[in-house]
Amino acid sequence: MTLEFEPVSDLSGPGEAKSNLDLLARLFPDAMVDGTVDLDVLRDLLGEDASSPSTEAFGLRWPGMAEARRLSTVPATGTLLPKPEESVDWDATRNIVIEGDNLEVLRLLRRGYTNKVDVIYIDPPYNTGNDFIYDDKRTTTQAEHETAAGQRDEEGVLQTGVGSDRAEDRKAGASKHSAWLSMMYPRMLVAHHLLKETGVIIAAIDDTEHARLKLLMDRIFGAENFVASVTWEGGRKNDAHLLSPSTDYMLIYVKNISTLSDVRWREPKPGLESILAAGKKAWEDSGENESDATKIMKEWWKSLDPNDPRRASEHYNQVDGNSGRPGVVYFRSDLRSPNPRANLCYDLLHPETKQPVNMHPNGWAFEKSRMTQMLTEGRIRFGSDETTRPTLKRYLDETSTQSVLPVFYMDRRAASKRLDSLLGKGIFTFPKDESVIARWVNLVTQSKPETLVLDFFAGSGSTGHAVMDLNAADGGNRRYILVQLDELIDRDGYKTIADITRERLRRAGAQIASKLTLDTAHVDTGFRSYRLASSNVKPWDGSPDQLNLFKSVDNLVEGRTTNDLLVEMMLRLGVDLTTPVETREVAGSTLYSLSGVLFAYFGTQMNVDRANEIAKALTTWRDEDPTDVDTTVVVRDTGFIDSAAKLNFAAALEQAGFTKLRSI
Ligand SMILES: C[S@@+](CC[C@H](N)C(=O)[O-])C[C@H]1O[C@@H](n2cnc3c(N)ncnc32)[C@H](O)[C@@H]1O
Repeated sequence: MTLEFEPVSDLSGPGEAKSNLDLLARLFPDAMVDGTVDLDVLRDLLGEDASSPSTEAFGLRWPGMAEARRLSTVPATGTLLPKPEESVDWDATRNIVIEGDNLEVLRLLRRGYTNKVDVIYIDPPYNTGNDFIYDDKRTTTQAEHETAAGQRDEEGVLQTGVGSDRAEDRKAGASKHSAWLSMMYPRMLVAHHLLKETGVIIAAIDDTEHARLKLLMDRIFGAENFVASVTWEGGRKNDAHLLSPSTDYMLIYVKNISTLSDVRWREPKPGLESILAAGKKAWEDSGENESDATKIMKEWWKSLDPNDPRRASEHYNQVDGNSGRPGVVYFRSDLRSPNPRANLCYDLLHPETKQPVNMHPNGWAFEKSRMTQMLTEGRIRFGSDETTRPTLKRYLDETSTQSVLPVFYMDRRAASKRLDSLLGKGIFTFPKDESVIARWVNLVTQSKPETLVLDFFAGSGSTGHAVMDLNAADGGNRRYILVQLDELIDRDGYKTIADITRERLRRAGAQIASKLTLDTAHVDTGFRSYRLASSNVKPWDGSPDQLNLFKSVDNLVEGRTTNDLLVEMMLRLGVDLTTPVETREVAGSTLYSLSGVLFAYFGTQMNVDRANEIAKALTTWRDEDPTDVDTTVVVRDTGFIDSAAKLNFAAALEQAGFTKLRSI
């Protein structure tokens, strides 16, 4: 039997309606009747917890919710066009910047990136005015929407203007929140698929939508996977009406909390080295006198700015003397056992009075043998006599990491100033601080150097900048994917916000590259630029019978190239977009090799001779660098002049040992 051409287009991605149905069919075949789900049977199979539709059901609801959910399940119909000319280091980089609406882009990415993303950081529009674009095709009419939002009465008469101003405001507010939720919901649903099981999502938000985003994320990610609502205190505004509106938040969820049971999120204590140095200096300046050194150290702490992050370690205010580790700062920690324990109750003698010291009724924190060791090391600090309970010296240099508080201060103006000096004043207002993003990405990945970070509301590209900064600091290989709408801005030569995103990344990348050392010279400061576009083949509306993309040569959109087709094929096959690609010219068109595992040829007019030539070139190339995995060959379905050429090609490949042949 000859090798069969399996159509590429049969693939559908996780999260799409068809995949969800397949999944259900596998789990509950009894509930599938003739390809559709019998919801009553499914409810029976799920038991008592499967709720029936009820007006009293608990949870977040808004008009347009079902339609928004549906949008996450429809297959993508577009493609991404590669734009090497606006990229940096196209061949080597693994970073990606995509211009286009993030819903379609996320849907396109889900074939290749489901369960691949370590961290999603997003800073969506906060819904504070006309700050978001909601152009997902709504299937309900505006009138239907207003009815569902309670803005029309039973006769369909619009109720605005009736009742008090506050009632009108509330109604307007409800629809504004509905629209925002409808924008966020499908995007978050697809994003959830893209996260790894151990992945983490961080969503920035302010008070306008914080409550609703929390409920939405509880729903999508599961309330049990909620980690924190981190408060970012960003500086006082004195023109505030009642309270200064200076905070915003980061809602943090993990995809699956059970995969992180052994993980502890810790970060280095800020300014550790400088605190230790201050202790040493205090010791020297005091003439090596323990109590004077401690006084100097306490003064040093007082001299720090109240917002200095080192102040989190302010309790390390004692400088050790000759009966311990001279010049090392420590804090005095409790020595009592947290619970009453008979084996921890024993006499501890005061070194001078030789009397048993005052013991807490629970007993000591350590067993006697360990206590003896601590005494020998000078780690126990006694009072002037046995009436004072001794304490344990906890040295700063032995606890160099700390857990993290879900609240922090960082003046927001600093990030704006840095971006102004990189791009020019006022080019992009209110960027997020890349050092804050870097800090939280590092924390939630515990400094893992090989992570994939996604930001699908990229703005000026702060997340990409943060990823490059992190890599430059530790030589890591973190990668980013950013998505940014081509939102018109027309400012200082920048037509769209996406133009700003790319330029910021170019400039930041160059700046970072210029400071790399021998150890970090490999750090990736480039990016590949792609733009969302309609499929390379027209017309294609995503219906199953139209999924066979490249039905005929004439179907190709004018101006599209085989490089464009390659990217569309990669998206449909779920291949990482930055997989290394090599090319050779064969029989008048390009033969592509993706890491020697996948070969693609999109040439047309293949007769028997050409088909043989291509099969020969494929075999030679594969054999130059053989791999253990099965190699796949993809060709254009309509690339053959007749069925003889097609059959001949399949037979030649089969003879050469190829086992997977696909057509698009
Ligand atoms: C609050 S800004 C993000 C700022 C960014 N964190 C920074 O530091 O520069 C939100 C961004 O999301 C973009 N955006 C809004 N809707 C979008 C959509 N549907 N697809 C892609 N980007 C979108 C906006 O154009 C805006 O640049």
